[in-house]
Amino acid sequence: MIDGAAIARTIREEVARDVAALSVRGMQPGLAVVLVGDDPASTVYVRNKDKACTGAGMHGVTVRLPASISQQQLLSQVDDLNADPAIHGFLVQMPLPRHLDADAVIRRIDPKKDVDGFHPVNVGKMLIGDTDGFVPATPAGVRELLARSDVETDGQHCVIIGRSNIVGKPMAAIMLQNQPGANATVTVCHSRTKSLPEFTRRADILIVAAGKANMLRGDMVKPGAVVIDVGINRVNDESAPSGHRLVGDVEFDSVREVASKLTPVPGGVGPMTIAMLLRNTVRAAERAIS
Ligand code: GUN
Repeated sequence: MIDGAAIARTIREEVARDVAALSVRGMQPGLAVVLVGDDPASTVYVRNKDKACTGAGMHGVTVRLPASISQQQLLSQVDDLNADPAIHGFLVQMPLPRHLDADAVIRRIDPKKDVDGFHPVNVGKMLIGDTDGFVPATPAGVRELLARSDVETDGQHCVIIGRSNIVGKPMAAIMLQNQPGANATVTVCHSRTKSLPEFTRRADILIVAAGKANMLRGDMVKPGAVVIDVGINRVNDESAPSGHRLVGDVEFDSVREVASKLTPVPGGVGPMTIAMLLRNTVRAAERAIS
């Protein structure tokens, strides 16, 4: 089992040490998170980000805006954060209410403060292997999990299921790079892929970010493969006090029989996302003074 919670804790401790080193130079990294409306899942994420930020000794700000805010007001909030010297990195929590244009909001963020790595400038830098940009936290966290679990990636066949801008596409760009911890042969599968099991059975490393509960079964996995489950799905469970529970995209019980290494849900990729976001923010702060 790959223990994402433990690896994320180690990274948060490393971040806290970097924050302490910066404080000697009179600087405290600042992260702001903009939350529009009161989507319950987003509210939980944002609270966890704020807690982790404070826990690492950073300056954390949550900007709460009503769901009725106009595009112009939201862009003006982004402008304020771009200009705020106490804020080194910030993000606007997605999804946004439907009347707002998320792409225009992302493009308004100063790429130097775009610690989510969603701005086209940072997406482009990642693709060409320019390490001076920001890489999105979730795929960066997957790469870190593989590296810290001593998974060989060089020359290995990495199959990714999912092509979102947040996970699948950046994940493919990362694993392709001519860099340590990458150098893989990459195949990207998605909802239109025919004969999915023919691809998944040829994977040495399988990264599943399809957003579909239990879609990867044990008979789709080559014995000894490493399986990373990026999914978080809420399924009904009458035995649970809340009436539901969280499961990944991987059918855990059948895949654990064939995989050599596997991430659980929860406690796998999830905790890494916040840890990597904090690391991106410290980098933004370091670059602001260098
Ligand atoms: N919603 C779900 N994941 C993310 C993320 O990584 N960043 C932002 N901004 N919104 C999200």
